[in-house]
Amino acid sequence: MPPALNLRARAHAKINLGLKILRRRRDGFHELRTVFQTIALADRVELDFQPGGRAAVALEVAGEAPAGEDNLAYRAARLAADAYRLRGRLAIRLTKRIPQRAGLGGGSSDAAAVLRMAAHLAGRAATPRRQLELAAELGSDVAPFLLGGTVLGLGRGEEVYGLPDLPPWRVVLAMPRDGAGVATPEAFRAWDRSHPGLTAAGEFATIMEFCSLLEQVLPAFRAPHSGRNRGRLVRPTVHAGIENDFQAGVFSLSPDFPRIHRQLRQGQAAWVSLTGSGAAQFGLFARAEPALRTAARLQRRYQVWSSRFVGRSEFHRGLTVETK
Ligand code: C5P
Repeated sequence: MPPALNLRARAHAKINLGLKILRRRRDGFHELRTVFQTIALADRVELDFQPGGRAAVALEVAGEAPAGEDNLAYRAARLAADAYRLRGRLAIRLTKRIPQRAGLGGGSSDAAAVLRMAAHLAGRAATPRRQLELAAELGSDVAPFLLGGTVLGLGRGEEVYGLPDLPPWRVVLAMPRDGAGVATPEAFRAWDRSHPGLTAAGEFATIMEFCSLLEQVLPAFRAPHSGRNRGRLVRPTVHAGIENDFQAGVFSLSPDFPRIHRQLRQGQAAWVSLTGSGAAQFGLFARAEPALRTAARLQRRYQVWSSRFVGRSEFHRGLTVETK
C-alpha cells in the first residue's frame, strides 16, 4: 500500500483588477471579462491522505467557514476522490484567514487547493483539462486558483488564461465591519435589474478583447514600476474595459462603500476598485509608506488587510508534500 501523505498549501486570495459584465446568458450565468490577481493573504489548507479502504472525506475548520457539504473544499475533495477513484481517507483541515462574502475568492481558493492536492495524489489521471473541468463544476471562480498569478477570466469566469506576472504592487484591502458581506447571486440580480435589455446572445470577439487587454490595460499596471516612473506615484491612465461593473450597485448599499473608496484615493493609491461583487475594495500602492499610512487610517472604522501581489511561481511554491 502507498504511504500516508501530508499535503499543505497556502490558498491565496484573489482580487479582480477589473470585472466587466457583458450580458445575462441563457443558462442564467453572466458572460464576464475579468483579470484575477492572486495576493499574499491566504487560508491554510492541510490534507492527510491515508490510503486503503473506501473513499472517505472529513473536514475540520478553524475560523469562519461553512461545515460539511456547504463547504466548497469538502465538495472538491468528494468530487476529486470520485473522479480520480482515490481509495482512502482524505482528512482536510482549513485555517481561515480570508474573510467571507468579500469578493476575495476564499472558498474557491480552498477548493482549488484541494483539487491541486488531489491531482498530486492521482498522478497522470489528473490532466490539466480534467482539473479545469472539476474546477468549473465546483464554481465559476475556482479555475483561476489552479493557475495563480495574473489570470484572464472569460465565460462565466471559468475559462482561464495565465498572463505574465505584474510588478509587486502592495495591496490595501478594506470593507465595512460586521455583516457587510455581499452575496454574489444577489449582486448579479441587482445588475440584471439595472440592465433589463442585456440578455441577448451577442457575438464577442474574444481574441480581439484579449489582445486589447494585453496591449492597453496590463501595461497601465506596470507603469509605476518601470523606467523613469520607478517609485513615483503614477496613476494608471488606461481605464477603459477594466472597471468593475458591480461597483455602482454595491456603492448604493451603504455610504461606507464610497467612503472607503475616497479614503483609498486620498491615500494616493494608484488604482482603487471593488473586488468581485464586494464587499472588499482594494487600493494598489507602488511604495510601502503611503500603503501603511492609508491602512492605519482606514483601520479606525473598517476591517483592513495589508497584502501584496503573488506571482505564479510563488503561488505554486505554496504547496508541499511529505510522507508521514
Ligand atoms: O458559479 P458560482 O457557484 O460561483 O456562482 C454563484 C452564483 O452567482 C450563480 O448561481 C449565479 O447566480 C451567479 N453567477 C452569474 N454569472 C457568473 C458567475 C456567477 O450569474 N459568471
